[in-house]
Amino acid sequence: MMGRFKGRDLIELVDYTPEDVRFIIETGLEFKRRFYAGERVIRVLDGRVIALLFEKPSTRTRVSFEVAARQLGASSIYLGWGELQLARGESLADTARTLSRYVDGIVARVREHWKLVELARYATIPVINGLSDVSHPVQALGDMMTILEKKGRLAGVKLVFVGDGSDNVLNSLLVAGAKLSLHIVVSSPRQLRPNEELLRHALEVARETGAVIEFVEDPYEAVRGADIVYTDVWVSMGQEAVREEKVRLLRPYQVNSKLMEAAGGKALFMHCLPAMRGEEVTDEVIDGPQSIVWDQAENRLHIQKAILALLIP
Ligand code: CP
Ligand code: NVA
Repeated sequence: MMGRFKGRDLIELVDYTPEDVRFIIETGLEFKRRFYAGERVIRVLDGRVIALLFEKPSTRTRVSFEVAARQLGASSIYLGWGELQLARGESLADTARTLSRYVDGIVARVREHWKLVELARYATIPVINGLSDVSHPVQALGDMMTILEKKGRLAGVKLVFVGDGSDNVLNSLLVAGAKLSLHIVVSSPRQLRPNEELLRHALEVARETGAVIEFVEDPYEAVRGADIVYTDVWVSMGQEAVREEKVRLLRPYQVNSKLMEAAGGKALFMHCLPAMRGEEVTDEVIDGPQSIVWDQAENRLHIQKAILALLIP
């Protein structure tokens, strides 16, 4: 089972079957269980080196991948985009070819998604999407692991995403959720829509898995009976120029106590973080009893151990 993942890229969950996705999550849970049983280092990637090539800031993705590598017996090198010859015009193709001769895998965070595709095309080692303007698959995998842990199941879980309907994290939640038979409700102004290609894929997969994907503009109606209320920032990295317009559109979509009350007692609150407290979420919700955001952040570490262990040869 494990062998069939070796050497693969993880650019988009579209390329992974529902069984693959389930297996990655089970492996993440297993790494977490073993960590808490005292096995802090499991040397399945002894001596490997992972490069983290980041064009945008990161706290969770960077640190959790670096720690994940160490907990697998590997090491990591952080490469700020602007410090490489890339910044002086060396091509992505040549960068990918060169890095492939030194390291065993690349985690890349890019401003434009095509850069990931280009890196993967020319690298002879796995390239893992550490967030692009389009998607954030490792976040979605960690989130599915967290939901399974908290709710004991994934099929039929009602996840209501409230906020920016064009959000990169949402795009990946739609694909992951479709593969794992969730009931996803997107509550967003109608101008902000998910990536068309990923949504189409998610809807196709949903027909086979029994997942449900719905759009409900009114957030109060959307959250009724939710198992999970999920939000993300209103202004993603790189969208600063349209900040005013997005804040204006999204103001009615703040996740506050009133909205959580409408969701009901079984609703848990999730956020990929970083949070802009006072915008998409209030302190009382993110710090309140329904919030699971720190467990969610922790699980990035365990799921990424699974991803590295499975993909890196
Ligand atoms: N959620 C997430 O990817 O956070 P960072 O931007 O801090 O990596
Ligand atoms: N949508 C956010 C996610 C950050 C992890 C962004 O792209 O800035």
